[in-house]
Amino acid sequence: MSSGKRVLLIVGGGIAAYKALELVRLLRKRGISVRAVLTKAGEEFVTPLSLSALTEDKVYTDLFSLTDEAEMGHIQLSRSADLIVVAPATADLLAKMRAGLAGDLASTLLLATDTPVLAAPAMNVRMWTHAATQENVKVLAERGISFIGPDEGDMACGEFGPGRMAEPTAIAEAVAAQLDPAAKPLAGKRAVVTSGPTYEPIDPVRYIANRSSGKQGHAIAAALAAAGAEVTLVTGPTREPDPAGVTVRHIETARQMLAGVEAALPADIAIFAAAVADWRVAEEAPQKLKKNGSREIPALSMTENPDILKTVSGLDGKRPALVIGFAAETENVIPHATEKRARKGCDWIMANDVSPATGTFGGDANTIHLITGDGAEDWPTLTKKEVAVKLAARITEHFTA
Ligand code: PMT
Repeated sequence: MSSGKRVLLIVGGGIAAYKALELVRLLRKRGISVRAVLTKAGEEFVTPLSLSALTEDKVYTDLFSLTDEAEMGHIQLSRSADLIVVAPATADLLAKMRAGLAGDLASTLLLATDTPVLAAPAMNVRMWTHAATQENVKVLAERGISFIGPDEGDMACGEFGPGRMAEPTAIAEAVAAQLDPAAKPLAGKRAVVTSGPTYEPIDPVRYIANRSSGKQGHAIAAALAAAGAEVTLVTGPTREPDPAGVTVRHIETARQMLAGVEAALPADIAIFAAAVADWRVAEEAPQKLKKNGSREIPALSMTENPDILKTVSGLDGKRPALVIGFAAETENVIPHATEKRARKGCDWIMANDVSPATGTFGGDANTIHLITGDGAEDWPTLTKKEVAVKLAARITEHFTA
């Protein structure tokens, strides 16, 4: 239980700072006490008074305050909590954390602490995707900092993409999970997840692909990591950001995806959410195919790709204990998926209707029928992130039963 635990919340300077107020409310509702630190930039977005009213505590803003130092030294402040949460974690704060700067109260606390840190990044999409920020996040994750988000969506600056701070409910959930070791039920388990489309080259400039966005596979990788598993995500080209705390291998073809999965074995759990091309062009043209003024349309001769799910399901010795496939169907969803489960030799199949009207490919929602040896379980329509969290819970049940 996280009730009775203490969080030190560092509020950085970004438009998302207003969400920190709701976060305080949600944490306190769970019985978690919150002490807040507000950066100078943060004060431009929320006032110390509103944070103080919600935390029912003093709000710390100044590194060189004699009164604050007399009451509680900043080193002590950094160690007075069970978890430090940085929300919003701005590009500036992340860069300071990575570099070990200590020019203000927030960065000094983050440098002086040995308490676990959870960061919820929030910034403009280009700032988030900039190589400097991505490198900072990678290094911080390697040092053990946990991340939640950012989410993708419309941004206050009018742009669209990843950079929005995760919703306070999701951050509160992640905080509770960090504070309660039992909330890491898949700790010690290794998982490999596939996601996205594959690109099968025709010639150096053309390829065959599909409309998979990677949203479902990436969400599953993130949910398993949040549940404590050590996750490798093998993904085709997508616009989804790499989930934090997950090892990501970027590939293009089905054959590369198979090699990526094999390199991630042994694993306890393998989940195949990728939309892998069943066929590829038999002979990739070494040069761009030319029209040459001829009326003749070139015929593409196809050959079969390796079936990654079937290959892993049939492995001797290295077969993961739980192999889960997806079935993308447009009619007779449950009978077709049941047959697919038997044919591919996996333990469970997540069947989903991918008829264009459902918007499953590329959309944010999914309606799953989970097919196991015991039959079919109908899940309600959920967001892909909720599907991922529900699947992680179902996997936990499987391993603890
Ligand atoms: O990426 P999104 O936009 O979020 O969309 C999610 C999704 C619709 C792609 C996903 O929910 C889904 O259904 N993924 C499986 C897509 C698919 O290729 O289904 P299938 O029925 O053709 O294949 C069955 C299973 O075999 C799948 O687990 C697939 O990953 C696997 N497979 C297929 C072919 C192949 N050569 N190798 C494989 O491993």
